[in-house]
Amino acid sequence: MTGDVLHAIGNIFRPASPPADSIYSLAMLVLAVCLAIFLSVAGVLTYTIIRFRRRPGEADREPPQVYGSNQIEIAWTVIPVLIVVVLSMATARVTSEIQNKKPPEGAVHATVIGHQWWWEIRYPALGIVTANELHVPLSTAAQPRPTFIRLESADVAHSFWVPLLAGKTDAIPNHPNSMWIEPRVEGTFLGNCAEFCGLQHANMLLRVVVQPADAFARWVDSERLTARHDHQGERVFMSLSCINCHAVSGTRAAGTFGPDLSHLMSRQTLGAGLFPNTPENLRRWIREPQAMKPGNLMPNMQLDDRQLDQVHGYLSSLR
Ligand code: CUA
Repeated sequence: MTGDVLHAIGNIFRPASPPADSIYSLAMLVLAVCLAIFLSVAGVLTYTIIRFRRRPGEADREPPQVYGSNQIEIAWTVIPVLIVVVLSMATARVTSEIQNKKPPEGAVHATVIGHQWWWEIRYPALGIVTANELHVPLSTAAQPRPTFIRLESADVAHSFWVPLLAGKTDAIPNHPNSMWIEPRVEGTFLGNCAEFCGLQHANMLLRVVVQPADAFARWVDSERLTARHDHQGERVFMSLSCINCHAVSGTRAAGTFGPDLSHLMSRQTLGAGLFPNTPENLRRWIREPQAMKPGNLMPNMQLDDRQLDQVHGYLSSLR
């Protein structure tokens, strides 16, 4: 298992990739400006409340009435306009900085396709297809290796979001979007779909596994191998309608509606991040997928115990 360190979604103060850094700095600038505004407004308010509070013996006296002051009106128009201009310019700069980055030599290219409710992950140049777990190389100062991601959708709008690595980018049908990440910390980063896409939107989780160059190369090599075969269970699997939706490399299973299963055992989770990939969970998933993730597109195959054992044995052999 790679990516032993699990980076929590929550720690927004420790971005680990340049697009997330830029967003973090921008957020800090906005926070600082808002804090300054809050302190001045609250300060003036507090001063006024104390300085001009009602005093004994003044009950029947009206305070002086002031109408119109050009200086004050100009000030409270110009200052907010300046603040808005500064914040918009800073935002435009960060946005263009992130969006205009060109893939350098050595960049990894991946295509991520949102499905209800899982992520298809392809590396066209490497000939790899997997699901829910995007493996990328670690980027170092000596060897910068960003990963450029093309985002597509097979059905409705989804949004790819791994908070510590980059901002959200939508995966929209028939409108490919692109983004990039350049993680400089090893480990597994958690993300999730950030656009409501149906019943299991909240359970459309994803992981980015950041590995040093050599470990990434080993992963690539093992994913490129044709799936290992366990012949006894394979025959049963191939005789069932599983193969209409799932692919296993080197076999006639070539379905594309569901996740590619060629190296299923190399993945950390089942059901798009919902369950750890353990033998018990896998068996239960095959038996009653609707109980584990209601509404997902995998039907109950009504397997008897013997078929269940064989399919489970076969899938467990796909490393
Ligand atoms: Cu996919 Cu929300």
